[in-house]
Amino acid sequence: MQRKIWINGDYINWEDAQVHILSHSHQRGSLIFGFIPIFENDGVISLFRLNDHVDRLFTSCETAGIPLEYSPQDIQLAIKDTVRKNPGSKFVKISVYIASIEIDVVPQDPFSTVAIAAYEPMEDIASKNTQPFHSSKELSVWLEKEKHQRRHDIIPPQVKIAGNYTSSMMAKWQARKNGYDEIILTDEEGYITEAPTSNVFIVSNDNVLLTAPEEDVLYGITRKSVIEIAKDENIEVKLERVLTSKLDNIREIFLTSSSHIICPVIRLDNKQIGNGKIGNLTSRLSKRFLKITNGFDKNFNFWLDNI
Ligand SMILES: Cc1ncc(COP(=O)(O)O)c(C=O)c1O
Repeated sequence: MQRKIWINGDYINWEDAQVHILSHSHQRGSLIFGFIPIFENDGVISLFRLNDHVDRLFTSCETAGIPLEYSPQDIQLAIKDTVRKNPGSKFVKISVYIASIEIDVVPQDPFSTVAIAAYEPMEDIASKNTQPFHSSKELSVWLEKEKHQRRHDIIPPQVKIAGNYTSSMMAKWQARKNGYDEIILTDEEGYITEAPTSNVFIVSNDNVLLTAPEEDVLYGITRKSVIEIAKDENIEVKLERVLTSKLDNIREIFLTSSSHIICPVIRLDNKQIGNGKIGNLTSRLSKRFLKITNGFDKNFNFWLDNI
């Protein structure tokens, strides 16, 4: 399938969608991005919580000071059109970047380019790389206590900007070499924050769902959805900081993201969580989420934005 990527209003062939090696975003990490799941039910294609994803993109740009020439409505229409042009896509990646060739950290030509790609990650990317793609449905996780991804005094955690992923890349790369699938990051005070590209939920021994408050993590759209589903299911949710030392006494951990929705953690630092299988609450929330993305849940059908 010849994929077409929308770049500032034009459709460019996948292999021609390139930036210069000396572009500001490439050299300084000033790329803002978004990643939206696509679901198909009986031939109807929908984007998951499109409004929320586009809002977050604009918040990231505004906080980072990256100018954006388009309105949220322009971007939503362009996303839908790109999905129509790329049948079989499972995700949309939106990139807002400074393509100009720059010398200084402050760009002389601070105009941003917007690129929208709709694709099937396994088919269009993973299968074309030489090494197998690492993937696991049940995670063995390393608790990273040194490389702090989220520091309010550096880049606010709510900004989805490339430069914000460097320390988590270093930590996760090392963890992979040590045989783990994933890492969970902590802040400077020893509280659990999030994983490199997902939010973290903990089920306490009294069956309360705990997750870090919004100011400490990226505003995950899946996180927000899990909180709303839990409330609908009368599951108690607390947005609170959890110390790593409290992890000895918990029932379940799971990660949430647009890529995997809900992913159970079954081992942490090589110690089994619960009975080493997907926990009851994790399983219940996953099933409800699946019902929603399959288009069978009246309460949350409005999360699916048909194209
Ligand atoms: C740092 C970080 N936290 C959490 C998430 C999960 O967010 P969402 O559920 O919107 O995909 C992501 C997604 O890429 C992320 O990069």
